[in-house]
Amino acid sequence: MLEIKNLTKILGDKLILRNVSLTLGKGEILAVVGPNGAGKSTFFKCTVGLLQPSGGEIILDGNLVKKKSAIARKKIGFLGHESFLYNNLSPLENLQFYGKLYKVKNLEERMKELLKEVGLYLFKDVPIRSFSRGMMQRLAIARVLLAEPDILMLDEPHTGLDQEAVQLLNKIIIDKKNSGTSILIISHDFEQVHKLADRVAVLKKGKIVETRELAESMDLYGMKEWYEKVVSEG
Ligand SMILES: Nc1ncnc2c1ncn2[C@@H]1O[C@H](COP(=O)(O)OP(=O)(O)O)[C@@H](O)[C@H]1O
Ligand SMILES: [Mg+2]
Repeated sequence: MLEIKNLTKILGDKLILRNVSLTLGKGEILAVVGPNGAGKSTFFKCTVGLLQPSGGEIILDGNLVKKKSAIARKKIGFLGHESFLYNNLSPLENLQFYGKLYKVKNLEERMKELLKEVGLYLFKDVPIRSFSRGMMQRLAIARVLLAEPDILMLDEPHTGLDQEAVQLLNKIIIDKKNSGTSILIISHDFEQVHKLADRVAVLKKGKIVETRELAESMDLYGMKEWYEKVVSEG
């Protein structure tokens, strides 16, 4: 349903992405993994429309996606390094703001449901400026889920979360997958994402160097060895 074809990005005089091609199927979890500086966040920004690619195309359900495209905005929910939350507002007020923007139906009910799901219901009226990183990330996740996107794109979503928040995030990711959402997770940490992903693509120096299906039956040691070999070669 989401096809990325020969994506390239030049920043300054550096070629950051080189002909990156990937597809994301319905209900699939694809992990894009690679070392720091590989170009993962640049890839993320180009795919969600925050950056204009220098070349290549992104096709969503048969339609070409342009920067700031309305179809993409409706169908793709993304969570990057910026939370897009307002510090002076409470969780409820933040969700209200985005709910109106996205014209979410049954907003009142949906907001309460989501705040319970991410474990922030007790704090629903507290201005978020005093929130921990974990609490912020929980609210950011609720914000992304509010519009019920068909596709979720997450850039390093586990970073800085405590163990409990990691478990919660993983549960939400699996639940969404089971209800048909397609999910692309970007991470520098193979161990963090291999349990979640159906398929992994390794990005290195701006290029996809390998992709592989991950079966539940595979042993972790073998997989890690494979990943480390792919990253260290060439
Ligand atoms: N605005 C920019 N101008 C020039 N180079 C950049 C810019 N943003 C990122 N880069 C470079 O692009 C490369 C990839 O960065 P990034 O996409 O953030 O990698 P990753 O997310 O995999 O760590 C890095 O070498 C980084 O220094
Ligand atoms: Mg990054």
